Amino acid sequence: MSAAAEAPSVVILAAGLGTRMKSKKPKVLQPLCGRPMIAWVVDQALELEPANIVVVVGHGAAEVEEALVKSGQRERVELVVQEPQLGTGHAVQVAAPALFPEGNTPGTVIVLYGDMPCLEAESITQLLQAKDDLGPGGSAMLVACPDDPRGFGRVLFAEGDHDRVIGIVEEKDATPDQLAIDEVNLGVYAFDGAGLQEALPKLANDNAQGEYYLTDVVAMLVDQDKPVVAVELEELDEAIGVNSLTHLAEARWAIQMRILEEHLANGVYIEDPASTWIDHGVTIGQGSRILPSTVIRSGVTIGEGCEVGPFTHLRVGTVLEEGAEVGNFTECKKSTIGSHSKAKHLSYLGDAKIGARANIGAGTIFANYDGKDKHVSIVEDGAFVGSGTVVVAPNTIGRGATTGAGAVVVRGSQVEPDSVWVGVPAKPLTKKTPS
Ligand code: UD1
Ligand code: CA
Repeated sequence: MSAAAEAPSVVILAAGLGTRMKSKKPKVLQPLCGRPMIAWVVDQALELEPANIVVVVGHGAAEVEEALVKSGQRERVELVVQEPQLGTGHAVQVAAPALFPEGNTPGTVIVLYGDMPCLEAESITQLLQAKDDLGPGGSAMLVACPDDPRGFGRVLFAEGDHDRVIGIVEEKDATPDQLAIDEVNLGVYAFDGAGLQEALPKLANDNAQGEYYLTDVVAMLVDQDKPVVAVELEELDEAIGVNSLTHLAEARWAIQMRILEEHLANGVYIEDPASTWIDHGVTIGQGSRILPSTVIRSGVTIGEGCEVGPFTHLRVGTVLEEGAEVGNFTECKKSTIGSHSKAKHLSYLGDAKIGARANIGAGTIFANYDGKDKHVSIVEDGAFVGSGTVVVAPNTIGRGATTGAGAVVVRGSQVEPDSVWVGVPAKPLTKKTPS
């Protein structure tokens, strides 16, 4: 069996402090489209179907672990703590026991960064391909030619041969000539496992930053006559490294566009992508229409032929069944809106279970919170909830029942099927029967 066919190991470097974020939260836990940044990077790794994934964490290791439990990825990764953080090379040294368990050296070790959430698995696959093309012992690294190379390491090539990398020099250690090099190191590598394992213990920190540089491994491989090739990343969006809240906003936008494009490709009409927020983990059926200025958070399910927006906020646990419509200035949380039911104006639907073909009038509020606990309200099929109704939960509005405009249906009321309730507090409307 060739080494090329063997599943790679992945190490994700995520121990850096991220001081420039000016946030108490560990950098890799900053939210991006409904999940922490690290979850996007673990997904990049998972798409490669690796043998194992090692995540190097620093401060807030327990919080990172908790986040990975929540994202459902905890079981797929091994966490190692790097404390103190002495550089990218040191981070991989700390990961080495997990990457190279006794008697088992993976053919390929891929290095990813916890703060590069936009990188696409396809680009990593291209990197792997370039490594494999070199045959056993080869390595590949991802490079780019950004307009502004500031802060990046520069890639050194063999004289007149851009197919052969001979080293990487960090900006702070570079000569003026080296600073003029166009190709920068993105920090993502597909290393020959054995070569990396051999080089790691030899790293030194005699450089401008006093750090153990992972970049020095490249020159060491070349010294061992192991070739290293550079693969240029064309899409610079993928290379966004999040070091500040401005970068976080850029990364969010890049990922948001991908999510929207996926829904558009599935036949979801999105009138104005620029004002539409749809998080990761949202299901939308074909033929549904998402109108402008709408926010749809993770954990929302929208059936086929629904209409959402404009100016609608759908939160976790919301389910819109086929043909349901939720419109202007309506917020839903943990509510089911049954098929062809409508809540089109100025409402709060919290913990409501609404059946089919019900009408929720303008300004209806489900008062689900009593200051201590949240309670569920049920609205059965075909009910007509009049404008400005307040339904104090828990409560049930029966099949085909009506509430009058401005009714306050107090807690625990049982609005009988087909009955009409009005007033404050709402009472059944008894028709005067002619004597
Ligand atoms: C590194 C590269 C540089 C490259 C740049 C791309 C080195 C020495 N330099 O720069 O050539 O252009 O990435 O962004 O590798 N980390 C740890 N532990 C540490 C230090 C860093 O886990 O002790 C993690 C960080 O959380 C981050 C990643 O490694 O995810 C990169 O660290 P960062 O400090 O941003 O990179 P540089 O060293 O500046
Ligand atoms: Ca650094």
